[in-house]
Amino acid sequence: MSETETKKAARDPWDLPDVSGLVVGVLGGTGDQGRGLAYRLARAGQKVIIGSRAAERARAAAAELGLGVEGADNAECARRSDVVIVAVPWEGHAATLRALREDLRGKLVVDCVNPLGFDKQGAYALRPEEGSAAQQAAALLPESRVTAAFHHLSAVLLQDETIDEIDTDVMVLGEKRADTDLVQALAARIPGMRGVFAGRLRGAHQVESLVANLISVNRRYRAHAGLRLTDVEESPGR
Ligand SMILES: NC(=O)c1ccc[n+]([C@@H]2O[C@H](COP(=O)([O-])OP(=O)(O)OC[C@H]3O[C@@H](n4cnc5c(N)ncnc54)[C@H](OP(=O)(O)O)[C@@H]3O)[C@@H](O)[C@H]2O)c1
Repeated sequence: MSETETKKAARDPWDLPDVSGLVVGVLGGTGDQGRGLAYRLARAGQKVIIGSRAAERARAAAAELGLGVEGADNAECARRSDVVIVAVPWEGHAATLRALREDLRGKLVVDCVNPLGFDKQGAYALRPEEGSAAQQAAALLPESRVTAAFHHLSAVLLQDETIDEIDTDVMVLGEKRADTDLVQALAARIPGMRGVFAGRLRGAHQVESLVANLISVNRRYRAHAGLRLTDVEESPGR
């Protein structure tokens, strides 16, 4: 194999790491989105810790889910986890992360927060000062590895135990390939779901904002719409 061929083979975008041994924490894991992600990941065999502002609420939510899920306050959840999903409302995003800076040091953080406003016309995208929720996380957590993913999922479908597969792609953004590969691999643990690299964090605003459009789709068609990216196939060397 030539050097170019070797390089090309080494950069197969679907050659993702084994993440099955990682502990995943979910800040705000007592809410719909966090609970849904915790459920799906735990059901896939991942060790999951739900975080909450109140340890007791997290423990209760974890007990309801079963599947070996544990509950703790957000700080302990962050400390005990390798990967930490941020699933708190936009209104509490900055304060939550600011308080957890030390606990999240060195962790892989996955932000799924969509800064949205709602008025008579429906949902609309807010414009965070830093550019996006993910960029705000990166600014507040300089010693963490911040990525963005899981924005376009329906918490209703995630939590529905009768649904075996979540038919959707997950756009994954971040600065380091090792980190986005890992998040892609985590998304792929959930049957039906696929993680697709979608750029650097400076592109997170579009991804977060698109949820406003999905909410309009859901309202008109009474759906729980997800996203599929076409012509992105898992066939190395094409
Ligand atoms: N729902 C969806 O379908 C969906 C889909 C994709 C992405 N998201 C994003 O995921 C995030 C969570 O959505 P959600 O619908 O699960 O929200 P949620 O139920 O309103 O909130 C999630 C949890 O966050 C905690 N929380 C509430 N207010 C807080 C504050 N001011 N500061 C810190 N923590 C607070 C609460 O847990 P404790 O009281 O136990 O601390 C709550 O259970 C949002 O940013 C949303 O944009 C949601």
